[in-house]
Amino acid sequence: MSDEIKKGLLGIVVDETTISQVMPDINSLTYRGYAVQDLCEKCNFEEVAYLVLNGELPNKSELKKFKNQLEKNRNISINLREIVRHMPKKSHPMDVARTIVSVLGLEDKETTDNSPKANMRKVIRIFAKTPTAIAAFFRARKGKKIIPPKRNLSFAENFFYMCFGKVPSKDIVKAFDVSLILYAEHSFNVSTFTARTITSSLSDIHGAITGAIASLKGPLHGGANEEVMHMMSKIKKPENAFKWINKALDKKEVVMGFGHRVYKKGDSRVPTMEKYFKKVSKIQKDKKFIKIYDVVKSVMIERKNIHPNVDYPTGPTYHLMGFDTDFFTPIFVISRITGWSAHIMEQHAANKLIRPLSKYSGPDHRKVVLLNQR
Ligand code: CMC
Repeated sequence: MSDEIKKGLLGIVVDETTISQVMPDINSLTYRGYAVQDLCEKCNFEEVAYLVLNGELPNKSELKKFKNQLEKNRNISINLREIVRHMPKKSHPMDVARTIVSVLGLEDKETTDNSPKANMRKVIRIFAKTPTAIAAFFRARKGKKIIPPKRNLSFAENFFYMCFGKVPSKDIVKAFDVSLILYAEHSFNVSTFTARTITSSLSDIHGAITGAIASLKGPLHGGANEEVMHMMSKIKKPENAFKWINKALDKKEVVMGFGHRVYKKGDSRVPTMEKYFKKVSKIQKDKKFIKIYDVVKSVMIERKNIHPNVDYPTGPTYHLMGFDTDFFTPIFVISRITGWSAHIMEQHAANKLIRPLSKYSGPDHRKVVLLNQR
């Protein structure tokens, strides 16, 4: 057995997956074999969610049935609604999201049934109900009336409706839908690996997703989309961007929304999201963020050869759509539930307990000295 330490599991292949493939050399990401940029242009989020969960794109009747199941399950219990309403207003929405899935586990009659059929039923409930509860907190913390979900609205439309009481224009909804598609799945990233690790002890799906949300919150992972917005707010106006980013790099700061463990020549999701960020900027008649975006990006590439990741364009896009900054990562959650769930089910289907080794570097063997002699 080798003693070599691979900190951060850098470059280690730990298992097989049929869900997605990240190909950094040809700048490509596929879900179940389909290029993600193609899915963004030809499908809506529900079709992609079905694909990620089931392995195939749905036909019309399969999609109808899937959407119907989601719509039927969108309502949350009075219990959960009241818990959300009474959560401290200053709570980070990611902590609220984590608690929401945990409470859904307490309420679900099948929590401990890990059979494939029960898992799929639970996935539908978690996927359908979590956005409702997150949107409830979006409003409750502002003292606004909670808006229940509405049927006959798409996943994206319904989320806007529950947060703002209205559905924006088709182009804004499409941009949001695209962001959900791009966030749905990304192989063995930190949160997915967390979900698979929790699952590997034969724990349940609610627990695995709760852990995954905690992992996604970190600024090196999903939390980066919020940090990007904080950075843009600090920069304030395009004229400040060049000086700001050069100063940050001189101070060796980590610039959020840039860099990636796997993609070193650029994140394959960025060109698509950038296109929709530009569209939203145009619709909202606000070019400030796109100007800041371009300056920071070109300096990062010129000085460091570090490219943006998907969180860089999604942050300001969500801001322009009217979402509060600390809700950006919960939006990531409502989409990534699909990828996590597919991985949890894949792990259950061919499980091996995940238990790596560590090299001990603490003190040598010591004798315990009794308390009164220490
Ligand atoms: N800003 C400045 N320098 C950077 C950045 C960055 N964003 N990313 C990497 N570097 C530098 C890093 O300092 C290091 O330099 P040196 O070799 O001189 O010490 C070198 O590039 C290699 O970086 P690393 O941190 O060793 O690479 P990693 O693969 O361990 O980390 C990363 C990947 C995503 C954690 C890192 O790029 C980072 O911290 N980025 C900012 C946070 C971020 O945007 N996260 C979102 C990730 S992708 C989407 C998602 O999961 O949500």
